[in-house]
Amino acid sequence: MTLPRIAVLASGRGSNLQAILDAIAQGRLDARLVGVFSDRPQAGALMRVPPELRWSARPSSFENRQAYEQALGAALAASGADWIVCAGYMRILGEALIARFAGRMLNIHPSLLPRHRGLHTHAAALAAGDTEHGCSVHFVIPELDAGSLIAQARLPVEAGDTPETLASRVLALEHRLLPAVLRLAVAGRLSERDGTTYVDGQPRFTPLTLDSLERRMPHPEATP
Ligand code: GRF
Repeated sequence: MTLPRIAVLASGRGSNLQAILDAIAQGRLDARLVGVFSDRPQAGALMRVPPELRWSARPSSFENRQAYEQALGAALAASGADWIVCAGYMRILGEALIARFAGRMLNIHPSLLPRHRGLHTHAAALAAGDTEHGCSVHFVIPELDAGSLIAQARLPVEAGDTPETLASRVLALEHRLLPAVLRLAVAGRLSERDGTTYVDGQPRFTPLTLDSLERRMPHPEATP
């Protein structure tokens, strides 16, 4: 059986990548990781996979952004990835690259989109007085953190929360949400058309919840 192929774009420590690797290793995700692609050769994420799965290039060593993204796009295409996951990839992707992989590029973002696009989402949620916060997985479009939503996981903001305490509780949810969405994706049950997410061929007007995803796929650390 040929397994669906997943590529991960990451700039940092790669804990979401690790959640994908763990899900594969534990038989919760029937897929193969075909590469980790980074704009930072020192990224911790790269160290989580064997050398033959690592690709990195410093954008500043290319003539311009297009040239860098052409190289990245060629490497992604060569990996044969069916799904490309941005998991802490800290650069804005250009239109040409996104168009090349349209409908099969996902991003995980640490807020309940459309609230708090961009950086510093945990501080922004606190500053706004939000009572709930969380994370979202969505299709990637050229506009930052704006593609159609697939799924969200939420938690209550607690008295005394700081950006750091919120970040760590949200990160734990990210590690459950991302593999759960990928499980749908690699099963061929997830698609996007004209800015709308489809699950099992049906349009979704609200994002899936972590609960509903985990009812389909229990997480070993989820409380019964
Ligand atoms: C995560 O919070 C992700 O949502 C955000 O960047 C962080 C990456 O963390 N886009 P890691 O590199 O996966 O540990």
